[in-house]
Amino acid sequence: MNTIIELAYLVAAVCFILGLKQLSSPKGARNGNRIAAVGMVIALVATLPLLHFTTAGVIIIAIGVVIGGAVGSIGARMVKMTAIPQMVALFNGVGGGAAALVAVAELLRFGQHPAFAEAFPSVFSIVIGSVSFAGSMVAFAKLQELMTGKPITYPGQQVVNGILAAAILGFVIAVLAVASIPFSFVSLMVLALVLGVAFVLPIGGADMPVVISLLNAFTGLAVAASGFTLNNFALIVAGTLVGASGSILTKLMSDAMGRSLGNVLFGAFGQTHAGTAAVAGKEGRSVRSGSAEDIGTLLAYSQRVIIVPGYGLAVAQAQHAARELAEVLEKRGVEVTYAIHPVAGRMPGHMNVLLAEANVPYEQLKEMDEVNDEFKNADVALIVGANDVVNPSARNAPGSPIFGMPILNADQAKNIVFMKRSMRPGFAGIDNDLMYDPKTLMFFGDAKDSLTKLVSAVKAA
Ligand code: TAP
Repeated sequence: MNTIIELAYLVAAVCFILGLKQLSSPKGARNGNRIAAVGMVIALVATLPLLHFTTAGVIIIAIGVVIGGAVGSIGARMVKMTAIPQMVALFNGVGGGAAALVAVAELLRFGQHPAFAEAFPSVFSIVIGSVSFAGSMVAFAKLQELMTGKPITYPGQQVVNGILAAAILGFVIAVLAVASIPFSFVSLMVLALVLGVAFVLPIGGADMPVVISLLNAFTGLAVAASGFTLNNFALIVAGTLVGASGSILTKLMSDAMGRSLGNVLFGAFGQTHAGTAAVAGKEGRSVRSGSAEDIGTLLAYSQRVIIVPGYGLAVAQAQHAARELAEVLEKRGVEVTYAIHPVAGRMPGHMNVLLAEANVPYEQLKEMDEVNDEFKNADVALIVGANDVVNPSARNAPGSPIFGMPILNADQAKNIVFMKRSMRPGFAGIDNDLMYDPKTLMFFGDAKDSLTKLVSAVKAA
């Protein structure tokens, strides 16, 4: 029986790896998800014979499966695409919390003096899982705007966090060396929860993608440690894969922000440069705005147009209208491409997913490094609901909170059309000088309505 279970776990592990591989491109993403889900079902079914069922146990497991399955599937179906980061934070957090609780249960089962090899993974899982749970709940509250999304800082914060970390280390040693008395690991869990909250509070603004990926990696590590505690191969593989992919994503997100991970975690977004943030004087500066007809004519008589999609495209669900405009322009011989910034929108790959849904050909989507040199030859950079990812203060205002973040060179295009509803800033909460650029025409309104008007205007031009 054990051989069959091990074989089933192996098949599940292969499914997870193949699924992850497919998820690395928008083309294979749906299929990748399905393959990984099949792997998860195989792993779950293979685990059932390992459980020593009592009637009460079966009832508790059945209730858990029904409640968890319902919340997961209804939540995933109902969530708006723009709210996926919050949902990821929430689901990720409960994963970390579950790993920590499993570790507590195992420590209780081991009794007073567990072997080091048994106790260590459990203690690791309790600490990392609890940090991940509490940190993810704060990230959820920030992204859902249940609390301010800005960094919350106070004097001596790093010292307090350092003391918390040292206290946790003390309890870890107590649990491992002295005895696994319930008091010590309950205290450990409480301290780790407090550290999770304290760790995420000072992170905010445009740095949130980095912290979400990092917490994701933490949950993976906590789950892998639970796998060692339970001696379960499937958990070790799945947790390690999540830990590794989360760590790689964290590095990619930090690079996309032009920041080191240490700076994101301990620099408090926007706080280090407080007072000099790039809110370059709105007063006395005027912006030019254009009508649909003006902009339609400009686009229709261009040779090259680069569309820069951002979060507003997702809010307005304007991806189909964007594709329609591109098609109308292409029919007139205009070359159209889309410039994709790695942190555009609110989740990794957000723009790729949206545009793929609207059947925009993959060849038209160009990553930042690939497209940035092309802006200077573009007749129009058409910015649709993007803001921070084209903010030149990231390049030329050393005091700006996003200084150093690589941006799309939309400012180098011959003409810039900036489509949004108002002069409000983007996620990072900072003003954007590009709106005041003499080459820029603002086109105010909901992105979907505005794009639909532009389609008619181009047809009429
Ligand atoms: P943002 O800088 O957030 O700007 C989006 C703009 O869209 C806003 O200025 C808003 O202006 C406009 N907008 C909103 N709804 C609209 C609508 N219905 N129609 C037209 N425009 C609309 O977006 P971005 O340039 O994509 O940058 C992403 C930001 O989010 C970065 O700061 C990034 O760090 C952060 N972030 C990213 C992620 C990931 S992983 N991608 C996760 C969390 C946070 P109006 O209100 O004036 O319309």
